[in-house]
Amino acid sequence: MQFDVITLFPDFIKSYCQFGIIGRAYKEEKIKLNTVDLRQFGLGKHKQVDDLSYGGGVGLILMVEPLFNALKKIPKKEKSKILITSASGKKWDQDFANKLKNEEQIIIICGRYEGYDERVLNIIDHEICLGDFILTGGELCALAVIDSVSRLVQGVLRKEETLEEESFKGGCLEYPQYTRPNEFNSWKVPDILLSGHHAEIKKWREEQAKEKTRKNRPDLVK
Ligand SMILES: C[S@@+](CC[C@H](N)C(=O)[O-])C[C@H]1O[C@@H](n2cnc3c(N)ncnc32)[C@H](O)[C@@H]1O
Repeated sequence: MQFDVITLFPDFIKSYCQFGIIGRAYKEEKIKLNTVDLRQFGLGKHKQVDDLSYGGGVGLILMVEPLFNALKKIPKKEKSKILITSASGKKWDQDFANKLKNEEQIIIICGRYEGYDERVLNIIDHEICLGDFILTGGELCALAVIDSVSRLVQGVLRKEETLEEESFKGGCLEYPQYTRPNEFNSWKVPDILLSGHHAEIKKWREEQAKEKTRKNRPDLVK
């Protein structure tokens, strides 16, 4: 999987992708990362990338021309999707990540300032939103896409980092988990988990997962 990210802050993206499972996947070339510095495509002596919004309003927005030119420079693979980050986009979630995991390439444009010239949408597949809040830029959202899709790419996770029992599978959150010691600060691990009764443990986990979903994410309960 190839990720190309157009951003005013390439180091922010590169830095995150050096660590943990994503860093390992990058080093092992299971994923590829190319950052494109939008500033290089800025206009005029000052490499301007933003301007005032027609019709008035506070703040500046990214101009369409630098975005278009930066995008044009990226070699496109056959199976490729172009995303742009936006608080008013479609919510990014596990289903979305699953849909994109079989692409060969995901190109992400990170918005900044007060947003971008809407005409850029002529060359975009999806506007994506990380959640119902306003960030200062799209880089965190781009990293969420890279991280969540990379985990689904064949060979990125090792056996012990399984995808089998995770939150959002079958519309349910993950069950609560515990590790050593059995007791800490008088907080005990539930007896059932120490019982060795696998069928009972499985049942308990399913019930707990349902309970947690009802409590924390009633919107997921069908
Ligand atoms: C300060 S925000 C602009 C917010 C915009 N004026 C609005 O009201 O929707 C700057 C950029 O950060 C990114 N951004 C902000 N919140 C986001 C979110 N929840 N999800 C994805 N990207 C976001 C977008 O790329 C946006 O263009």
